[in-house]
Amino acid sequence: MRKKLVAGNWKMNLANLFELSPNEDVDVILFVPFTHIGVNRHLKEGGFNLGAQNFYPAESGAFTGEISASMIKDAGASYVLIGHSERRAIFGETNEFINEKVKFALKEDLIPIFCVGETLEEREKNITFEVISEQIKIGFKEVSEEDAKKVIIAYEPVWAIGTGKTATSEQAEEVCLQLRKLISELYSKEASETVRILYGGSVNMKNAKELFSMPNIDGGLVGGASLTAEFSEVIKGAAK
Ligand code: 13P
Repeated sequence: MRKKLVAGNWKMNLANLFELSPNEDVDVILFVPFTHIGVNRHLKEGGFNLGAQNFYPAESGAFTGEISASMIKDAGASYVLIGHSERRAIFGETNEFINEKVKFALKEDLIPIFCVGETLEEREKNITFEVISEQIKIGFKEVSEEDAKKVIIAYEPVWAIGTGKTATSEQAEEVCLQLRKLISELYSKEASETVRILYGGSVNMKNAKELFSMPNIDGGLVGGASLTAEFSEVIKGAAK
């Protein structure tokens, strides 16, 4: 049985103060801005996990403005977002660079939440699965089965991010099932049953329960609704 997981991605925002109670059925990860990882270290004692929204895949060196995996770990985070559509679109990250980051993060014991997703144009052209398969195949290149099982995949259709336009639970389930089949082809049935697959894109307290109850959706990656007390309700949507 895969444990449900709900991750909040604050992006370049600060959250309003709100109470968050841990729920034993659900793993919770907060992807806060770099400067807030250390500040929020105490959350770990409260049963939550911390993640970074980015890192640069090198041990150290002349990479002005960048942060390494070991710096992130020192600050108290154990997870990292990789392949988010905002990094792909705004910062030009390619599938090949994302693969470098996936391998580097795993080598440094940081667990990747690896994001994939199609644009509206790609969905309308009926090439969603081709796009996502390419993102997965290149992203997992040279990643061993043992490491692949640690990766958390997030299906985030670009057209659903920050738009209030959520994928229906059927649309999200269809892609998450295809992703699981792809992991089975690339690795094994066992790997495909181990890997957790999240849905992200306008998840809120109203749609969370239905989305998270789909057989191949193991939780969510939440943007806007992770910034307020609504996040507690989204987490409850993943509980048994
Ligand atoms: P929203 O929940 O605000 O649509 O953002 C989704 C997202 O990009 C999470 O990484």
